[in-house]
Amino acid sequence: SQPAFQPAPVPTYQPVDLSEGRMVALFDHVRNMLEMGIEATFPGKGFANAMLVGSNVSYKSAAALTLLKRIDGLGFPYKTAHDIASAIHKNLPKSTLLESSHFEVDERGFITVVVPAKLLATILTNIVVHGVLPPKQEKKKRVIIDFSSPNIAKEMHVGHLRSTIIGESLCRLLEYRGFEVLRVNHVGDWGTQFGMLIAHLKDEFPNFRNESPPIGDLQAFYKASKKRFDADEEFKKRAYTEVVKLQAGTDADVRHAWKLICDESRREFELIYKRLHVTIKEKGESFYQPMMPSVVADLEKRGFVQVEDGRKIMFVPDQAVPLTVEKSDGGYTYDTSDLAAIKYRIEEEHADWIIYVVDVGQSLHLETVFSAAKHVGWLDPAKVRVDHVAFGLVLGEDGKKFKTRSGDTVRLVDLLDEAVERAKVVLDSKRGGDLQPEEYAAALDAVSYGAVKYADLSTSRTSDYTFSFDRMLKLVGNTAPYLLYAYTRMSSIARNAGIDVSKEIAKHPCEFTEGPELALARALIRFPEILNRITDDLMPHTLGSFLYEICQLYSTFYEKLRIIEHDVDKATGTKTIKSIHYPRLALCEAASLVLKQGLSILGMDVVGKM
Ligand code: ARG
Repeated sequence: SQPAFQPAPVPTYQPVDLSEGRMVALFDHVRNMLEMGIEATFPGKGFANAMLVGSNVSYKSAAALTLLKRIDGLGFPYKTAHDIASAIHKNLPKSTLLESSHFEVDERGFITVVVPAKLLATILTNIVVHGVLPPKQEKKKRVIIDFSSPNIAKEMHVGHLRSTIIGESLCRLLEYRGFEVLRVNHVGDWGTQFGMLIAHLKDEFPNFRNESPPIGDLQAFYKASKKRFDADEEFKKRAYTEVVKLQAGTDADVRHAWKLICDESRREFELIYKRLHVTIKEKGESFYQPMMPSVVADLEKRGFVQVEDGRKIMFVPDQAVPLTVEKSDGGYTYDTSDLAAIKYRIEEEHADWIIYVVDVGQSLHLETVFSAAKHVGWLDPAKVRVDHVAFGLVLGEDGKKFKTRSGDTVRLVDLLDEAVERAKVVLDSKRGGDLQPEEYAAALDAVSYGAVKYADLSTSRTSDYTFSFDRMLKLVGNTAPYLLYAYTRMSSIARNAGIDVSKEIAKHPCEFTEGPELALARALIRFPEILNRITDDLMPHTLGSFLYEICQLYSTFYEKLRIIEHDVDKATGTKTIKSIHYPRLALCEAASLVLKQGLSILGMDVVGKM
């Protein structure tokens, strides 16, 4: 059976302006034009869907073919898809970028646009002269990205690493696009684990108020207290009373113990963030504690809460499992803090968009929180966009959950240390030895952390992901080392020849005629289109595939066509430049700039030499 017909909204022309040197998402522009053409042809019918598919060669719309079936019996004078396509073509709006002659209607009714040479040249010239500037954003929107968010006193694990890497990338994407981004670390600093930690701290280091306790190995400290918690009933009871005291906020000693533990944890997290060049601001669960009593009271007053076995719970539409807003001992839960947080983010922080980068295992929890926020009237989906950016598990090469040989959770510091060691081997196998010490350090940083990030970001985030140093550090294929080497090759051509391409370009217009140059040029200008796409679906791996494709197209281009020709003095071996193909040099430059910008959105640094 056919899915119910969803009328499309009436499109309005979205003007684009290349004058500031900004890039333009041509795909979206073409779609917009076509949809206006469709709307003008079939006013008020809700037919405006361009059904556009983009490739590096052209943009192609199948709208007329679909519309032929839809207009059956509606009394329009069109007999064939070609008739419809021609009518749409006549009704295209005026554009500053494309003329209607750039749209071609074929016999079957497909409408195709090939980017005209002049436009291609303008966009590429802009890249070289102005840099890779994103399309203009009309209104600055505020987005909150909740990512990383490890739990205090527990080790930050590979799941948090995924959240950190994906979250950082989304932050960079949206900052680049012109959003105001609030990077929020929603650390778990308020859970029941603190009861046993505080009770244990009091026993082990009774003098903790005056002397800072040696809890540098928090993991061991956590394990020891957990052991007592599981084995000793009396200790367990004490642990519970410590949590109650912590949440009541009246006991200064408990508060102090809590803070000591948090500070220690924070220090460890910071080391990881620093190594990965991640910026994030802590606003953990405890931040919302002062708001929780009134949130619960408000929900109760409005009749959303019911009591079951002494717990206060709240059912929400379409969810079988209720939220627990208050436990029987009066304590609050992960549900309560997330309710308080979403309310705060909308009402106090005025977010236009909230993104939660959290593993797929928490889908139900987050869906329930979102549904609750709508149900009680805090969240209006027409005004605020909320996304759960879910991601799958990290698996070891044996296909099981990622663990060390001995079966423990892998410590992130150890993991990153190993990445660095392995990256050294890769660098040394190339020309790493000729680099100056600081060049080598920069390259090592770029390759090791780049590999860990790129392996994650080049996989569709919703699938489980197999962590393999061997694979992520391969020099061929869709890997960080391959892309980083490609960058060094692209960027070194003009540099080695001592040419400032942005100056020369005024004298040498960007004309392309050869297949490999056209293919690369047409692919490059799709960058903003890719960014639009990942801004919609928040799937950064599409950008990874795009950049990989650029590198492959570049390598064909470089193999087939001459950019700079040299004369070599037979006697001395000295090379002098004989001729320079400037448009191709500009293409190299544009490719390196797009690649650099793309990699930066994926959280990666490039280096000029490796
Ligand atoms: N601390 C949680 C965990 O480690 C993740 C928190 C995600 N953010 C949120 N607002 N619930 O599983």
